[in-house]
Amino acid sequence: MALILDGKAFAGKLREKVREMTSTLMSEHRIQPGLAVILVGEDPASQVYVRNKGKQALEAGFNSFEHKLPDDISEEKLLSLLDRLNDDDKVHGILVQLPLPPHISEQKVIDRINPEKDVDGFHISNVGKLATGLEGFVPCTPLGCSMLLKDYLGDLSGLNAVVVGRSNIVGKPMAALLLKESCTVTVAHSRTKNLADVCRRADILVAAVGRPKMIKGDWVKPGATVIDVGINRIKKEDGTSALVGDVDFDSVQQVAGAITPVPGGVGPMTIACLLYNTLVAAHRINGIPFPADT
Ligand code: GUN
Repeated sequence: MALILDGKAFAGKLREKVREMTSTLMSEHRIQPGLAVILVGEDPASQVYVRNKGKQALEAGFNSFEHKLPDDISEEKLLSLLDRLNDDDKVHGILVQLPLPPHISEQKVIDRINPEKDVDGFHISNVGKLATGLEGFVPCTPLGCSMLLKDYLGDLSGLNAVVVGRSNIVGKPMAALLLKESCTVTVAHSRTKNLADVCRRADILVAAVGRPKMIKGDWVKPGATVIDVGINRIKKEDGTSALVGDVDFDSVQQVAGAITPVPGGVGPMTIACLLYNTLVAAHRINGIPFPADT
């Protein structure tokens, strides 16, 4: 039976570290990290995420600025809010919750965020830095996956890593991070031929496709480390609903060496990494070296 990688516990420890470092930053430099989160519209899942981000920012000792905007807000107004936040010295991190309504260009919005405050790591400047190995901001979900992997496996060099999914938010930056750790990386996706065979070659298998329970036990190499990024709400036969990942937990657990559960695996790491990135931003913007070993 696979070891369960407890993302919830790891995220709790990371949040505690961020809280302690925040307290040091405040007492030594009189700087309080500030995170601005913008939500456009009333999508229920996005509302829950944004509420949790604000709550956990406050718990870490940050300033939290929530901007809830109506669904029909103009692109221009959203862009001018970003200009104000870019200029606001109390704000070190800016996050615009995605997806946005169709009349607003996500690309234009992301482009407008000052890359030094882009704690989501979505700005083209940070994407380029990750791809070329320069210091920037790494998207929170893949950063959390990478922390879990390094904590469990230690050195990742030379391992075969397969990332299933090629999104800009998870798949592509995850592949870049694994390459940086000297893994041999394959990015698989919906058009990949013989997907099960490709997955079976993985020492590290990261599933980020958004398809409930797609990865089955016989797709997994015995002893592999499986990271499940999926969060899918499914209707059960009895009419109630449940959260499941992209991995068929019951069958994969019999084969893998270690596996992240859903919920309680990657999910809690994402917000903890957002706080971490915002703390880093507060240091960098003020020219303060970020203490190592975090
Ligand atoms: N929507 C789903 N995941 C994310 C994320 O990591 N950041 C933002 N801004 N929006 C999202």
